[in-house]
Amino acid sequence: MRLIDLDQMQTLKPFDCGDSDLNEFLTEDARFYSEQLLANTFVLEDENEIVGYYSLLNDKISQTTLPKNLWRKLRKKIPHEKHLGSYPAVKIGRFAISKNYSGKGIGSYLINGIMQLLITQRGLSACRFLTVDAYPDAVQFYEKNDFIKMINDADITTELQTIPLYYDLKQLTTN
Ligand SMILES: CC(C)(COP(=O)(O)OP(=O)(O)OC[C@H]1O[C@@H](n2cnc3c(N)ncnc32)[C@H](O)[C@@H]1OP(=O)(O)O)[C@@H](O)C(=O)NCCC(=O)NCCS
Repeated sequence: MRLIDLDQMQTLKPFDCGDSDLNEFLTEDARFYSEQLLANTFVLEDENEIVGYYSLLNDKISQTTLPKNLWRKLRKKIPHEKHLGSYPAVKIGRFAISKNYSGKGIGSYLINGIMQLLITQRGLSACRFLTVDAYPDAVQFYEKNDFIKMINDADITTELQTIPLYYDLKQLTTN
């Protein structure tokens, strides 16, 4: 298997993650997002098909977007003298694994790769958190990968199409 920047790919192998919006983003929209500097997409493929893909873009977590209790919890991770109104983040814009490969640990492997990449590339631009607006069905997957919800459980209703979560990248550094 190999992970490739979509911009370096001439043709796309078949892909089906079971969700038509996520399938279509890869085939119809991802190149446009990259051209317009809106999100970069990376594709994991084997000889026959696309195994999974993700897209990344810059983000921030700000005081105004979190309930007060969760904002206080997040800020506790940061030394008092560095308390700000918002903190830099990178967002996982899209994330999907082929139905043929789901449940085999590939999603967690890719998430871990993104986290490691953001740490090794931190010399370019600082980024404290990794964020995602997850489909409700995928929240458990992100929580297994140590993401924390940015919404109180009591506020989660069936009308919500996505649930915001974050991961604190600081836990991956040694200093
Ligand atoms: C959600 C998704 C990315 C997970 O990828 P994956 O490679 O199947 O996940 P992993 O095999 O690494 O699973 C890690 C853990 O998350 C759990 N998990 C995976 N998918 C899950 C789901 N849809 N619902 C609940 N738990 C899930 C698994 O139980 C697994 O735990 P375990 O190792 O203790 O069994 C993948 O199923 C997918 O692409 N689904 C369709 C599209 C989608 O929902 N994308 C996310 C958009 S936010």
